[in-house]
Amino acid sequence: MKVVAFSGSARKDGNTALLLKTVLAELEDAGVETELVQLAGQELRGCIACYECFKNKDGYCAVKKDCINDCLDKMKGADAILLGSPTYFADVSPEMKALMDRCGMVSRANGDLFKRKLGAAVVAARRAGAIHVFDSMNHFFLIGQMIVVGSNYWNIGMGREKEEVAKDEEGMQTMRVLGQNMAWLLKKLEK
Ligand SMILES: Cc1cc2nc3c(=O)[nH]c(=O)nc-3n(C[C@H](O)[C@H](O)[C@H](O)COP(=O)(O)O)c2cc1C
Repeated sequence: MKVVAFSGSARKDGNTALLLKTVLAELEDAGVETELVQLAGQELRGCIACYECFKNKDGYCAVKKDCINDCLDKMKGADAILLGSPTYFADVSPEMKALMDRCGMVSRANGDLFKRKLGAAVVAARRAGAIHVFDSMNHFFLIGQMIVVGSNYWNIGMGREKEEVAKDEEGMQTMRVLGQNMAWLLKKLEK
């Protein structure tokens, strides 16, 4: 079983990445293979609405000059997908929006490529707006027939400076429980 996690932060190894790594550590402990992809530094833009993916139906985005098709391959090869975003003006980051719009459109053009895979979203925020970010990423999973895994709180960690989220004990605990729940469900599905 494999889980791939995408950090949509513009800042490498920041709070979003730390939250995702905390979820992944629980999965690794349970024997699940994991991979973290950080979109920071990638030249990414949103969907250009060409609808070529609906004509081509080849499982890929027609815009091939960036990392989106690599991300699609990683999603296709995983049993579960984690999406992580910082809160930017109470919304997802542009990198996460580009990932969701383009991979989501290709998925829809090809009969829901991630159908019945597991999904979960995690959010880093300094103070407010995180629930909207959480909801936005859950829309990606729920429109695509994916199964959303929860924790014992909404998957949010609070912090501003890099890795400050480590001080948010409840947020870190929420991530660990999320990892444990995802590992539990993956093991059930393996049988
Ligand atoms: C452009 C921008 C907008 C932000 N907007 C918000 C916001 O609306 N609410 C909030 O709580 N934090 C906001 N923040 C703070 C980040 O969400 C916070 O520092 C987060 O931990 C960053 O995660 P990262 O380290 O993964 O980049 C903003 C930061 C930036 C750079």
